[in-house]
Amino acid sequence: MKPEHSLIAANWKMQFSFTEAIEFTSEYHENFIDLSKKESTIIALCPSFPALYPLSRYFKGSEISLGAQDCSAYRSGAYTGQVCAASLAQIGCHYCIIGHSERRYYNHETSDEIAEKAQRLLEQEIQPIMCIGETKKEYEAKETFCVLEQQLEPVLTKISRFNESHEPIYIAYEPIWSIGTGIVPSVDYLIQVFEWLTSHTQKFLGKERIIGLLYGGSVSAETAADLHSIYPLSGLLVGGASLDFQKFNNIVNLYCR
Ligand code: PGA
Repeated sequence: MKPEHSLIAANWKMQFSFTEAIEFTSEYHENFIDLSKKESTIIALCPSFPALYPLSRYFKGSEISLGAQDCSAYRSGAYTGQVCAASLAQIGCHYCIIGHSERRYYNHETSDEIAEKAQRLLEQEIQPIMCIGETKKEYEAKETFCVLEQQLEPVLTKISRFNESHEPIYIAYEPIWSIGTGIVPSVDYLIQVFEWLTSHTQKFLGKERIIGLLYGGSVSAETAADLHSIYPLSGLLVGGASLDFQKFNNIVNLYCR
């Protein structure tokens, strides 16, 4: 089942320093709040860890949601440098990106670890935004579905066993060859991928579980309207364009019509 609202998540990556993130949100504070009042739309800002708590205070009482960009696969313990899902929940995060291709690549994260992270988040009633996607080489070799299936399997298996939670989960399809390149796959290709994702996730989790499918990779105002036409989609994960308020605003307005 699709979530009732569209989710537009802004992945700021490590593009803003702490000070820049605070300055950006101060400058556009009212504009973000206005944008978040849009009907049937959730705006989730995902800054890096240090900015999460100040932003949660800053947007307290508003409709703006916050998301982290990662969390630990462990509940607590001797894991220097990691941040547990409980801390994220305590500072007001409702979403958390996991398994982004940059983390799979630079931090060698495996799909099994990502599945653990999903479970830690669901225990804290944080909605995971799990990223999956194939490389250009895999796309050209027509291996997309095989790659997506391998990336999804551990997490879907774990979640299907994790019966206590009915939190929605989000799956963000981000072809690696689209991230930051200005290239967005054709609508026909994306429809095929999202129809496959719908039936594949329903097979594991049943039709009643709320699964939101997001697209990410060079989302811009030029492509947002086309993406809006892809029925199985429930929203967008926006990287570069979310660092410019006007661009982000245009994307939200074109996608959430
Ligand atoms: P992009 O990044 O919009 O800059 O391509 C998306 C992402 O990596 O989440």
